[in-house]
Amino acid sequence: MTLARKTISVIGLGYVGLPTAATFASRGIAVVGVDIREEAVARIRAGAAHFIEPDLDAVLRRVVASGHLRATTVPEPAEAFLIAVPTPIRHDRTADLSAVTAALASIAPVLKRGDLVVIESTCPVGTTAKAARQLRDLRPDLSFPDTAPEASDVLLAYSPERILPGQTLRELVDNPRTYGGLDHRSAVAARDLYAAFAAGPSRLTSAPEAELSKLVENAYRDVNCAFANELSLVCDAFGLDVWSVIGLANLHPRVDILSPGAGVGGHCIPVDPWFIHEALPDRTPLIRAAREVNDNKPLFVAGRIAEAASRFAAPVIAVLGLAYKPNVDDLRESPALRIARELAADETGRLMIVEPHVRHLPPDLAARDGVTLASLDEALAQADVVAVLVGHDAFRSIDRALLAGKAVVDAVGLTPGLEAAAAAA
Ligand SMILES: NC(=O)c1ccc[n+]([C@@H]2O[C@H](COP(=O)([O-])OP(=O)(O)OC[C@H]3O[C@@H](n4cnc5c(N)ncnc54)[C@H](O)[C@@H]3O)[C@@H](O)[C@H]2O)c1
Repeated sequence: MTLARKTISVIGLGYVGLPTAATFASRGIAVVGVDIREEAVARIRAGAAHFIEPDLDAVLRRVVASGHLRATTVPEPAEAFLIAVPTPIRHDRTADLSAVTAALASIAPVLKRGDLVVIESTCPVGTTAKAARQLRDLRPDLSFPDTAPEASDVLLAYSPERILPGQTLRELVDNPRTYGGLDHRSAVAARDLYAAFAAGPSRLTSAPEAELSKLVENAYRDVNCAFANELSLVCDAFGLDVWSVIGLANLHPRVDILSPGAGVGGHCIPVDPWFIHEALPDRTPLIRAAREVNDNKPLFVAGRIAEAASRFAAPVIAVLGLAYKPNVDDLRESPALRIARELAADETGRLMIVEPHVRHLPPDLAARDGVTLASLDEALAQADVVAVLVGHDAFRSIDRALLAGKAVVDAVGLTPGLEAAAAAA
């Protein structure tokens, strides 16, 4: 049975929720977007996103002006609710699901018979089943699929998001999608809902399988990055170029090693593997080790930079890149930012930070003496040590002649032989 869903409500209007809401609205569906941040809601009402995502503002302007997307801070009745709120880890690396719990509590009063609830946030295994228990406690007048499978009043499913920021609008439509129902009826209802725009392949499964598969995707990336990062330490000890060694190893038809870097950042890959480890610590030594290898890499790079700086009396260090990956302005969990903070805290030298994608340094760095945001030209002109931490395109064309007499620490292999070029100059 396909239920008509006249109004969809998206709870949490961030990197995932806002493009999703706008995309549903762009298909002529009435969407109520809900966020607890009043300033985000105000911006959306004015037809603009509160973060940078190519083409999103143009879609928002259209759907807000046409009335298909309406933003508010308090949930209203709808036929489907999509939950896309943050799911970070706490300092002790346990999952912080307080936003999911709060979002469920906020929709409970307006839920009615026939509604569908879909969780999109990345969550530990069992979260969707817990959501059913929470909603039942709050609404004992309604039945949910865990205790009334294939016959419940409210349908409940989990459908993880895989979008790549910067390509969100295209990937929302094209990516394969998994619909994990607490029962089959819920999975089918979720698939029918997203069929409004999702054009990629789809799979129906159970909620726990969908939950775990999302965590596994990011743990897979983390473990593979950790292997490359561990190799970078091995090559450093042997005095060998890790990119050259990996290039040779990848000539093998069944070997495909990733490139090492300054660590692993962003708000997904460094976080989600802990959701698996927290549940099964004794069975996941590899996942934990990978997290530790990747978390320790920035300290190793900072040590290399400090070592290079110690050769100069009053070192000036050009820090190239702060973002967590090339060509974005996103600093969340960025290993480069962590390295800059280490160097600043240890007063390793004067830091000239070059990050072409931001206009200001984070306040804690900006407040430090001897730490400035600089242009690439200024930093290269004055630096004794050049630390390449992010492979931004803007750094690809560095004139090797400018490196004469400087020490270079290249954590990302931006230019093959950059360190050697500086040493030889
Ligand atoms: N950003 C990505 O690329 C990406 C990709 C895949 C999965 N995810 C997952 O999707 C989820 C959301 O991520 P995001 O990047 O969109 O986060 P975000 O921080 O950009 O946005 C979340 C929004 O939810 C709002 N919010 C918090 N609690 C709320 C509540 N109780 N009611 C209403 N709104 C509330 C916040 O104010 C914020 O605007 C996370 O679980 C994340 O791991 C993100």
